[in-house]
Amino acid sequence: MDNTAVILAQRPQGLPNADDFALETLPLPELAQGAIRCQTLYLSLDPYMRSVIAGNHMGHGVDPGDVVPGEVVARVTESDAPDWPSGTLVRCQGGWQQFSDHDPAALSRVPSGLSRPSLSLSILGMPGLTAWAGMVQQAKVRQGDVVVIPAAVGGVGAMAAQLARRAGATTIAITSGAEKQRIALEMLGYAHCIDRVDQDLSEALARVAPKGVSVYFDLVGDPTLTTVAQQLAIGGRVVLCGLIKDYNGDHKTTGPHPGLWITKRAIVSGLVVYDYEPLRDQFESEFVPLVEAGELIANEEIHEGLAAAPDAFCQLMRGQNTGKVVISLEQ
Ligand SMILES: NC(=O)c1ccc[n+]([C@@H]2O[C@H](COP(=O)([O-])OP(=O)(O)OC[C@H]3O[C@@H](n4cnc5c(N)ncnc54)[C@H](OP(=O)(O)O)[C@@H]3O)[C@@H](O)[C@H]2O)c1
Repeated sequence: MDNTAVILAQRPQGLPNADDFALETLPLPELAQGAIRCQTLYLSLDPYMRSVIAGNHMGHGVDPGDVVPGEVVARVTESDAPDWPSGTLVRCQGGWQQFSDHDPAALSRVPSGLSRPSLSLSILGMPGLTAWAGMVQQAKVRQGDVVVIPAAVGGVGAMAAQLARRAGATTIAITSGAEKQRIALEMLGYAHCIDRVDQDLSEALARVAPKGVSVYFDLVGDPTLTTVAQQLAIGGRVVLCGLIKDYNGDHKTTGPHPGLWITKRAIVSGLVVYDYEPLRDQFESEFVPLVEAGELIANEEIHEGLAAAPDAFCQLMRGQNTGKVVISLEQ
């Protein structure tokens, strides 16, 4: 049997292009003793992969010729392990390929009762966990807060906004384009939406948050970080979580001068979602029922087929996605 895979053809320079990747047919080796073979159903595309393929994501990366890594939801197709019989739905680091082999310790179960398994990569997966960690665990969002969220309709932003609104906060989206503004206001319930391209952020923020911003969930870095920080309320909370503008390697966020944090008496925290993995069961128990009841909305952008992954990733890194990007490999 063969395995279809997307490999890194060359390291991107600046914005990635589709020809930085190549679709290949690879031989599928014999399954090693004790290993479990999984067939990918859904592949998650995430901005952090840009630094993985640059070779420098938190101490690890990949080289040209390697299968591009990524988290997937998969179905077990071959297994001797009684706890992981064929047909079990799992979440694992399967990469951009049809089949992947794993040690059982590297597999996580997809929660039962999901209406579609892709939820385990979006609102109920790593991006949703990040949003919860930032909004609830770190910022401790509460009634009366004025919360600003850039990348407002993506995997993290969409969940963060809904959590803030449920806590009684006023939510302000920063996004781009008419379609994303519609999603922000009509689907995700933001109170206000600012277009980062067509509007002056500083002026618009002063208008919709005249008493200042109490929580800023930074998913993008500068120049947005510095502009929002200047309009922080006294005692404002800032969660530093993402630097999308820096990932393509043509920009370097510096952030505001520390003097600004001092005068604002700001509480600034850094977020790495891996630290919250031990709380994943608690997160799933609380949010699977709410998502399935329709009380929280998953804004997914689903592309069909592995061959669509390179273009979809390039669009994501250009800010052209309109939701959490997932590739479906289901027939
Ligand atoms: N620290 C952690 O553990 C952790 C975990 C998960 C995610 N993150 C970070 O959180 C951020 C959001 O992740 P996500 O998965 O939810 O992504 P996403 O929002 O689906 O996609 C990224 C979005 O960033 C916005 N953006 C703003 N400025 C941009 C620019 N100069 N170029 C390209 N895009 C720009 C775009 O949305 P608009 O057009 O709406 O502005 C784009 O759609 C990323 O920075 C990611 O790395 C961090």
